[in-house]
Amino acid sequence: NTSQHAKYYDILRDAAVFYYKNLRVHPEAMLYLEKRGIHMDVVKQFGLGFSNDAWAELLKSMSQKYSTKDLESVGLIIANKDNTSYYDRFRNRIIFPIINPKGKVIGFGGRVMDDSLPKYLNSPETEVFNKSQTLYGLNLAKSKLSDKKQLIIAEGYMDVIALHTYGFTNAVATLGTALTADHGRLMRRYADEVIICYDSDFAGQKATLRSLDVLRGLIDKVKIIVLGENLDPDEYLKKYGSDKFREKIDNAITATEYRINHLMQAYNLNNDQEKIEFLSKAVLIIGELSNAFEKNLFIDNLSNQLQVSRELIAQEVFKENYNAN
Ligand code: GTP
Ligand code: MN
Ligand code: MN
Ligand code: MN
Ligand code: MN
Repeated sequence: NTSQHAKYYDILRDAAVFYYKNLRVHPEAMLYLEKRGIHMDVVKQFGLGFSNDAWAELLKSMSQKYSTKDLESVGLIIANKDNTSYYDRFRNRIIFPIINPKGKVIGFGGRVMDDSLPKYLNSPETEVFNKSQTLYGLNLAKSKLSDKKQLIIAEGYMDVIALHTYGFTNAVATLGTALTADHGRLMRRYADEVIICYDSDFAGQKATLRSLDVLRGLIDKVKIIVLGENLDPDEYLKKYGSDKFREKIDNAITATEYRINHLMQAYNLNNDQEKIEFLSKAVLIIGELSNAFEKNLFIDNLSNQLQVSRELIAQEVFKENYNAN
């Protein structure tokens, strides 16, 4: 209910302030952020914090004001095995408050400062925190969309922070979960166009294909940025800078281009048999396009690239289309 939720928001806000103040008195945490290119202005902008390497610092500080039941309900503390005591969920981690578009803190992400696992820990789902309906950074991005109303979607906290730092203030990320239709509808409320910019490793490519399926029919304009070299947006920006990333945005490709390029990687097109297999699958992708001009464009491209008759490819594309309807 509403008054319960209001209390939860108060608790989460207080916790964010606690972690934020705590960061100031932990030079090792400040140093970690500095090393990752996150300076004080960015710490402030994102409200970053630090949770101590201790079992109940937050609990101790907040249990005067709030009940353990409420602190547990918002995911900040965890009961021990026999339910006799509680301990902090976030320990010895850099803290990323997750803030909704209304400005309410609804949960946290926490990152270790070394190679220990898990690398990231998130708040559990609670009455006020639903991961499949939350985009990190949307609270900042929503007011900074230009006339183009374009959102960039990345994989991680650090990507969003780097993108904003380098001037791409229209960046958001899912919270380590797959993109859902709810995410799509949320983006649609703020943007006309979505640019997917996931990590360019294999996992990121898989996730891109999945997200394209989810967004199909939800967002009219979807484009994809391929960074290459297994880089993620954070790493790319540090290596190549804003101008190069701007070029990447300008050259972002369509869903169909991405699907065909990705498919193409799996085949050796100098081998006739593989070329046939590739073409048979590519015409299915092209056949799914609703616009005949667009279809023709891809047919032309394939024909030129593979030295196969244009008419033959077109015949297959429109045959598949016919079958599908
Ligand atoms: P950095 O290594 O700090 O640059 O983070 P990253 O965002 O590049 O990490 P990665 O590409 O491995 O993961 C992308 C996102 O997935 C992260 O930002 C997290 O939201 C999520 N994630 C990664 N590792 C874990 C994990 O161990 N547990 C959970 N729950 N989420 C994770
Ligand atoms: Mn990754
Ligand atoms: Mn990454
Ligand atoms: Mn990584
Ligand atoms: Mn990264």
